[in-house]
Amino acid sequence: MCGIVGYVGAKPAQGVVIEGLRRLEYRGYDSAGIALVDGGTIVSDKRAGKLANLEKALADAPLPQVTTGIGHTRWATHGPPTDRNAHPHLGRERRVALVHNGIIENFAELRQRLESDGVEMASDTDTEVAAHLLEEQLETGVDLTVAMQNVCRGLEGAFTLVAVDSQDPDRVVAARRNSPLVVGIGEGENFLGSDVAAFIEHTREAMELGQDQVVTITREGVSVSGFDGTPAEGTRYHVDWDLSAAEKDGHDWFMRKEIFEQPRAVADSLLGRRGTDGLLQLDEMRLSDQDLRDIDKIIIIAAGTSFYAGMVAKYAIEHWCRIPVEVELASEFRYRDPILTASTLVVAISQSGETADTLQAIRHARVQRSKVLAICNTNGSTIPRESDGVIYTHAGPEIGVASTKGFLTQLVACYLLALYLAQVKGTRYGDEISQVMDQLDQMPAHVQTVLDKAEEVYALARDHVDSRSVLFLGRHAGYPVALEGALKLKEIAYLHAEGFAAGELKHGPIALVEEGLPILCVVPPRGRDQLHDKMISGIQEVRARGARTLCLAEEGDTTITPYADVLITLPQVPVLLQPLVAVVPLQLFACELATQLGHDVDQPRNLAKSVTVE
Ligand code: F6R
Repeated sequence: MCGIVGYVGAKPAQGVVIEGLRRLEYRGYDSAGIALVDGGTIVSDKRAGKLANLEKALADAPLPQVTTGIGHTRWATHGPPTDRNAHPHLGRERRVALVHNGIIENFAELRQRLESDGVEMASDTDTEVAAHLLEEQLETGVDLTVAMQNVCRGLEGAFTLVAVDSQDPDRVVAARRNSPLVVGIGEGENFLGSDVAAFIEHTREAMELGQDQVVTITREGVSVSGFDGTPAEGTRYHVDWDLSAAEKDGHDWFMRKEIFEQPRAVADSLLGRRGTDGLLQLDEMRLSDQDLRDIDKIIIIAAGTSFYAGMVAKYAIEHWCRIPVEVELASEFRYRDPILTASTLVVAISQSGETADTLQAIRHARVQRSKVLAICNTNGSTIPRESDGVIYTHAGPEIGVASTKGFLTQLVACYLLALYLAQVKGTRYGDEISQVMDQLDQMPAHVQTVLDKAEEVYALARDHVDSRSVLFLGRHAGYPVALEGALKLKEIAYLHAEGFAAGELKHGPIALVEEGLPILCVVPPRGRDQLHDKMISGIQEVRARGARTLCLAEEGDTTITPYADVLITLPQVPVLLQPLVAVVPLQLFACELATQLGHDVDQPRNLAKSVTVE
């Protein structure tokens, strides 16, 4: 996720900005840049790669010692991580420099309009349009604050923007909608940051901004307004976190922070997917509609958590598109001599985009002339580069080794792919697709509802610190959720945990059930009666043998009450989308249990974030 810093004061801005960016490095990034206001001109430098590359460039060609500046570490969304796509972006006349976090959903139309007015774009980013728009506004004679208000009213999506104007060197202006930004309040100096880590070595007085607000900082003060120009107030607070807590937004672990970021991550992954005509659009799909119509089989390949996302995708694609789907572990794929033809679509799901097993599998598929589509969270990584098309998830970097928001956003990408295929192949009517998209748009709020009940799940986890083994049961789309719940517990709590399809129990695993064994049961929504009833039978079977049933079931499902020793309610959502809410309590359960057991949740033993060996 991008890191943003802004400064105006008495100190050399370059030092403050670079130091702030270093404090935000934990957010992950793939390029970095800085812009300073030097008496009527903007000076700027930006480099792909680590901050050290930018620092080396600045050491070789120093920028002037001035006291107003902005900086950025970019996590690529639109366009690969290159020097030209790095921020800041400048307007045509180099009057404005701008950095941005988020996604401007309507950037394509804005870009088209600017290009038809003769603006030449210097990058592939959505950000650059905002720099040109700001400059257009300034040319009408308004100041940077009003220019920002005017531009923001025309932007759709989620964004934090921070800008400077070469003609107004004592002012830095920022805006936010659905994206983080905090103000640091100093003596004769003020700061902007993606979070307080950017400035807590200078000041611990901070100000939080509301939604759709513009903030102007000068040496003397801070003023806030709405996008419509109405004066507003920010909320002041004192920061008493240390740096490490600040990086984790006050949480003890990155994993916990990432679990709580999921409503935002899901919303970001849905941004910009519907065109003005209401049709689904997937920017970097790159496979033509005809290519997709010719597909007669899909093979999904992935590892670990990403594999479980693939299992959910199978249910969605087969149901909505009527195309047969196989889901295969990437590490097994090549060795079974899979049947691949030019009409097979191979979908590779990988959060990191670097997993060696998955990479080798797609290379094998491409040699067999199959088309490869990647679902990936890391722009510019190897798997998307070697694929014919890509759907980027917009989770932002995942730092905790155990994947959480990566998984939820992979699910979103899988649903989008399924709906897109249904649209292209005509297997669903447009209004049916829109209906599911509307349901998906509700999911961030539903995920938040589950998170609001975290304490209930933590208490449950604390009750199970002495458990030696935990089982997970699910059916249909709840089956991969059960597998994922078990994987989380193995990874970070080092507990024996197994996930089963509820119907399989009686074929063997039920022999494991003994008095008091905790079994987490993912109960499907009631809409599919048979499925729901069969799940209840499975729960009865284990309960009759002494298991302690911890059930996740939708709100209002009273049929489960007699069979649940503990009941955690989930929001009412359609069965295919239920994994998005059902997995969240399982993540919280694992995180809390591992914490109680004293384990390093972010860096579990024997595991690496990206597995680059086969
Ligand atoms: C589990 C986890 C791993 C990864 C797997 C694939 O929490 O993180 O199981 O899901 O190693 O990684 P990617 O998605 O990067 O290919």
